[in-house]
Amino acid sequence: MCGIVGYIGKKEALPILLEGLRDLEYRGYDSAGIAILNQGKIERIREVGKVDMLVKKIAGKKFPGSIGIAHTRWATHGGVTEENAHPHLAGNGKLVLAHNGIIENYRELKKEIKDQNFESETDSEILAKLIFQNYSGDLLKAVKMTLPRVRGTYGLAIMHADHPDEIVVARLGSPLVVGVGEDEYYLASDVTPILPFTKQVTFLDDGEVALINRQEFKIFNLKDEQIIKGVTQIDWDIETAQKGGFENFMLKEIFDQPTVFEDAIRGRIDMSEGTAKLGGLNMNLEEMRAIKRIILIACGTASYACLAAKYAFERLSGIPTEVDVSSEFRYRDPIVDEHTLIFAVSQSGETADTIMALREAKRKGGVVRGIVNVVGSTIARETGAGTYIHAGPELAVASTKAYTNMVAILLLYALEFGRLHHTTPATGQRILQSLLQIPEKMNEILKQSEQIKILADKYKDYNDFLFLGRGINYSVALEGSHKLKEISYIHSEAYPAGEMKHGMNALLTPDFPVLAILTQNQLYEKMKSSIEEVRARKSKTIIIASVGDEEAKELADDIVYVPKTMELLEPLLNTIPLQLFAYHTAVALGRDVDRPRNLAKSVTVE
Ligand code: M6R
Repeated sequence: MCGIVGYIGKKEALPILLEGLRDLEYRGYDSAGIAILNQGKIERIREVGKVDMLVKKIAGKKFPGSIGIAHTRWATHGGVTEENAHPHLAGNGKLVLAHNGIIENYRELKKEIKDQNFESETDSEILAKLIFQNYSGDLLKAVKMTLPRVRGTYGLAIMHADHPDEIVVARLGSPLVVGVGEDEYYLASDVTPILPFTKQVTFLDDGEVALINRQEFKIFNLKDEQIIKGVTQIDWDIETAQKGGFENFMLKEIFDQPTVFEDAIRGRIDMSEGTAKLGGLNMNLEEMRAIKRIILIACGTASYACLAAKYAFERLSGIPTEVDVSSEFRYRDPIVDEHTLIFAVSQSGETADTIMALREAKRKGGVVRGIVNVVGSTIARETGAGTYIHAGPELAVASTKAYTNMVAILLLYALEFGRLHHTTPATGQRILQSLLQIPEKMNEILKQSEQIKILADKYKDYNDFLFLGRGINYSVALEGSHKLKEISYIHSEAYPAGEMKHGMNALLTPDFPVLAILTQNQLYEKMKSSIEEVRARKSKTIIIASVGDEEAKELADDIVYVPKTMELLEPLLNTIPLQLFAYHTAVALGRDVDRPRNLAKSVTVE
C-alpha cells in the first residue's frame, strides 16, 4: 500500500500535494516525493522518512506550478532509499510516474527496455521507462499501449513535460479517486486528500485509464472505449475516510485481509510444478536440502502464525520444526548449527526480543532469514534475506492482516521445502488451488460480521473465556484468546482440547464460556468428545464449525460457520471469526480498540 495524490487546476499544486500526502501517510510512510510540471519542465524532490522530512527538505525552495503528482511510499520492491522513492522519472526527466501496487512481471518487462540505466531498484521505474519507450507524442496512447503488458496491480499517475495540461491515471487492483472541482481536478488513493476541496468524486474501476486536463476528464477501458461515469457525493469526515468508512483501523484491517492475502501470494506460486517461488531465501537447492531443522522465532501473534505453520513444515517437508518465543530463545542457549534454518517472523521488523534472538541464532552459525511486513526495518536489514508479507501498513495495535499474511508466506515456504522432500507435485497443486480460493472464502466469513456482533453483545459480560482447539486449530485458539485479551481486557486462556482432562476441567462452570474450533479435519471426532466434556460441566459453547455441519449445532449454544478448506490452510479462515469476536466484544465494552491500554504497536524494548 502506498498513497498517490495529484492536482491539476489554477492553484499552486505544492501545498495541495503536501497536505494530501499527510492525509495518506497511514498508507505508507517510509519515503515521500512530489513532482511538479512548470514551463515545460518537471521538478521533482524526494526524501526518505515521513512527509515531514520531505517538507523540511522543501523549506525555502520554490516549486511553482499548478499541475503535479506526489507519492508516499510503503516499500515493496527495493529498500527504503531516496532513489527508490516515487515519483520515478524516465526519458531524461521528460516523464514522471507515481505507482501504488506491485508489478509481478517486472523482470520480464525490464528486458524490453532499451535504456538500461536504472536509478532505482523498483518495479515502478521499469513501468515509467516502458511507457516512455512507447510514447510517440500521445501520453494517453502510450499508457494504453503499455498497461495490457503489465501483470500485477497498479494505481498510477503520470505526467509528461510536453503535456503541461494533462495527467494520465490508471487503476488495476489499487484504488484511485478523482475529485471534481471547478476547472480543476484532484486525484488520490482515497478520498481523504480531496475532501477539503470538493465532495464530488468519481471512483475509477479496475481496468480503467483516465485523461485529466483542466477542463474535463475522460475515462477509457483498455480496449479504448470511452466510459461515462457519474460523480458521487461524499459526506465522510477525514478520519472516517482514512479508515475507509470503517469505525476504526482494526476493523478496516480485518476487512483488508482478502485483498492483502492476494498481495502476499501474487507472483509467488508455481502451479505447474506445484510449488512456491519465494526468491528471498537466497539458497540453492543443495543448500536447501542441507537444512535438517527449522526454528521459527517470533513474539505474540507472529508466534501463533508460526505455530500454525509448524504443522505445514513438518507435514510437507518432514523437517523437524520448532516454534520459539523470541524472548525465551535467546536465553535458553538454543542448539543451532549450519544445518538449522531460523525464520525471524515479525510484522514491525523492530521487535527487540526477535532482533536479539536472531542475532543469537546468527552467532551460533544458523542460517537466518526474515519474514517481515515493514520494508527496510531492522529485522529485514539484519537478516539480509527473506520475504516481505505485503500486508500493507497495519496501524491497529492488535495484529490481524499481518497474521494471515505471515501464515500464507510460511505455508509457501513449507511447500517449497516440501517439494524438495516428499510432497508430490499433485499435492502441491492441490494446496495452491486451495490457497487461491482463500480470499473468496475470507469474504464469506466477513459477511457474518453482524452476526458475530450479536454474539459478542450476548457474551461481553463474562469475566473469563476459554478457547479450545486441537492440532493446527490449537494455534488458532491461542491467537483468538490473545486477541480477546489484548483489546477487550477480558481474561481468557487457550488450551489444546485433549489436555483439558489433565487439569483445566477443574475451572469449568456455567460462567466460563468456551469458544471451540470444530472444523472437519482429522481431529474432528476427538474435538467433539472434548466439547461434550465441556458441556457436561454446563459451560456455554460457541462453536466455529464447517459449513453444512448440522451435528455441530447439537453441541453449540451458538455457532459460526466457516467455509471448508484443507486442514493446513484452516488457520487462514478460522482465525477471522475470532478476530471479529474480539473486536465486537471490545467495542461493546467501550474499549479503545486501536490503542489498547498498556500495549504498543512495536515493542522495541527487551
Ligand atoms: O511486530 P511484531 O510482529 O514482531 O510484534 C509481535 C507482537 O508484539 C505482536 O504480535 C503483538 O502480540 C500484537 N499486539 C498482536 O496483536
